[in-house]
Amino acid sequence: MTSHLLSVDSLSRERVEHLLRVARRVEPIAQRRQITRVLEGAVLGNLFFEASTRTRVSFNAAFCRLGGSVCDTTGFTFSSMAKGESLYDTSRVMSGYVDAIVMRHPEQGSVSEFAQATNVPVINGGDGPGEHPSQALLDLYTIDKEFSRLGKSLAGAHLLLTGDLKFGRTVHSLIKLLSLFDPMHITLVSPPGLEMPDHLIDLVVSRGHRIEQRQSLASDFRDLDVIYTTRIQKERFTEEMSENFTGVSREFIVDRAFMNRHCAQDTIVMHPLPRDSRPEANDLDPDLNGDPRLAIFRQTDNGIPIRMAIFATLLGVEELIERDRRDVRWFVPEKIGVDDADC
Ligand code: ASP
Ligand code: CP
Repeated sequence: MTSHLLSVDSLSRERVEHLLRVARRVEPIAQRRQITRVLEGAVLGNLFFEASTRTRVSFNAAFCRLGGSVCDTTGFTFSSMAKGESLYDTSRVMSGYVDAIVMRHPEQGSVSEFAQATNVPVINGGDGPGEHPSQALLDLYTIDKEFSRLGKSLAGAHLLLTGDLKFGRTVHSLIKLLSLFDPMHITLVSPPGLEMPDHLIDLVVSRGHRIEQRQSLASDFRDLDVIYTTRIQKERFTEEMSENFTGVSREFIVDRAFMNRHCAQDTIVMHPLPRDSRPEANDLDPDLNGDPRLAIFRQTDNGIPIRMAIFATLLGVEELIERDRRDVRWFVPEKIGVDDADC
C-alpha cells in the first residue's frame, strides 16, 4: 500500500519518533558536511499552487541532498489546471513522470483528493487552512533539539501558541502532533475571531493535555518553555472578515520588551515564517534578531533533515544512508547567518 503524508492524523507516536531519529542521522548531510546518493535517479515533482519559499525550496533541496532531482511547477497560470484540468487527471499524469510528489494548494482537502488518484507517495505541503504536516514535524524536531540543549523535556512543558490560530494550518498540525506525546500545558492567545477551532481543542484535551485560553499577552509567562507565534492569514479571510478587520493590536506582539518583561531567559521563540515585516502587521518583531532565544532560523534549517527523513522513509532508503555517505569537498561557512547566535 502506498504511503502518503497528508495529515498528522496518519502518524503514530512511534512513526514520529522514527522520523526524528532518521532526521538526526542525516544531520551531517543536511549541514553540508557529507553527501549521499541514495536517491540517485529518483525524480520529485514539486507542485505549488500557493506562494511558498521555505516549503518549496527545502523539499527541493532535501531531495537533491539525497541524490535525486526535481521537476516543479508554480502557480495555476503555468499549469494546465488553468485550462480546467482536474486534480485526478493532474495526479495521474504527474505520477507517470516522478517518484514522489509534494503539493501545496489553496483548498482544504485538495491534496488528499489528489493523492487518491496515485500510487506514488504524496506529501501535503499545505492545503488551505487545513494542515501542514511536514512543518509540524520540523517544529517538533526543533523543540526536541532546543530542549536537549537546554536540558528540558517535552513532558510537562508549557507552550504558548499565538497569532492566527483559526486559519494557521501550521498550528493545526502542530497541536495534533504534540497531543501524541505525554501531557503538557498549552496556552492559546489569539486576536478576537481567530481562535483555535474547538474540535482541535477537544481532541487535545481528550488526550490528557491542559489547554488554557487567554485574551492577550499582557500577563506573566515566566514558566513558558516555547512561544510559537504565527502570521495573520489575511488571504484566508472571508470578505466580511476583511471588511471588519482593523489590524492586530500591540498587545499581541512578541518583541524584546515582552520577552524581557514576561518570559524567562530560556524561553525559545518560534514562528513557521514568513513573518510579516510590515510595521502595521505587528508580527514577531525583528528586534529579537541575534537573541539566542529566537529559534526561527534554526527552525527553518531543521526543515532539511526532517524533509530528508520524510523522503527516505516514504521511499524506503533510510537504512541505506549510513552505508552511502562521504565528506563534501567544497567550502561551507562555520555560521550560516551573520546574526546566528552561539548556542
Ligand atoms: N508558511 C506557513 C504556511 O504556509 C505559515 C504562513 O504562511 O504564515 O502555512
Ligand atoms: N513555513 C512555510 O510553510 O513557509 P513557506 O510558506 O515560505 O513555504
